[in-house]
Amino acid sequence: MTDKTFRAFMRTLSALLLTLAVALAASPSALAEEGASYPHVNINVHDRGALQRGARLFMNYCVGCHSLQYVRYNQLAGALGLTEKQVLDNLDFTGAKFREPIVSAMPEADATKWFGKVPPDLSLEVGNRGADWVAAYLKSFYLDPKTASGWNNTVLVNSAMPFPLWQLQGEQVAVMNPPEGGNAATVTELKLAHPGSLTPAQYDQAVSDLTTFLAYVSSPDELTRSHIGMWVILYLVLFTLFALVLKKEYWKDVH
Ligand code: HEC
Repeated sequence: MTDKTFRAFMRTLSALLLTLAVALAASPSALAEEGASYPHVNINVHDRGALQRGARLFMNYCVGCHSLQYVRYNQLAGALGLTEKQVLDNLDFTGAKFREPIVSAMPEADATKWFGKVPPDLSLEVGNRGADWVAAYLKSFYLDPKTASGWNNTVLVNSAMPFPLWQLQGEQVAVMNPPEGGNAATVTELKLAHPGSLTPAQYDQAVSDLTTFLAYVSSPDELTRSHIGMWVILYLVLFTLFALVLKKEYWKDVH
């Protein structure tokens, strides 16, 4: 190999390394959010405090209707840094055993009777819809006497889900655009008519914690995958340095 071809080789190698680093840095949830027009929420699945708070919110307000069938309570313990006892005492309200998946206790027939549809499993929700969508959805419920549950939602219009967090966020009402030229009335803005137990900033934080927890659930190996990625890159960098030193050594006598 001449010096010129060697330089070309090194350029290709660094381009490859860069591509690899970028690919590893782009998480699946970031890709799923492409093209979404909802306000961006900053979530970090490595933030244990957020994961723990989000899990607690989920178990208190959501698991009555929604399952996370791909996650077992013992996996949860590992990810949240909690013991078996802590998980069973504080997060398992369904009577499930430690090795069992997180499954809602609500029979599907009852759900269909009450809501007209079965609440979907949320294991892959953030992967499918994106974190921004989920956070926006949880902030966009408003009172609507025309629906069966008394609630409507601007992100998922006519959502069959009764808003479970109203005591925290409070009650929002919609400011409507009057119907015009045959078009139906549209929501222009949501206003907080009765505050809940949390301030708007605290509620935003709660939603972000819940979304962080659901993002981890959608992609549980993300917690370990990024560590592996770091080692792969470190290995490649060291290998490149090693190859350079070796090349110098080999060519020393030729020149
Ligand atoms: C009383 C039952 C009930 C509770 C409690 C409940 N949900 Fe739901 N949820 C539903 C139903 C029913 C739907 C289906 C809505 C539809 O498609 O019209 C739904 C839909 C959703 C969706 C949208 C799914 C999609 O992509 O279409 C998300 C996200 C969601 N729920 C999150 C939550 C979270 C987070 C909580 C806890 C804070 C929660 N839900 C609590 C019944 C419930």
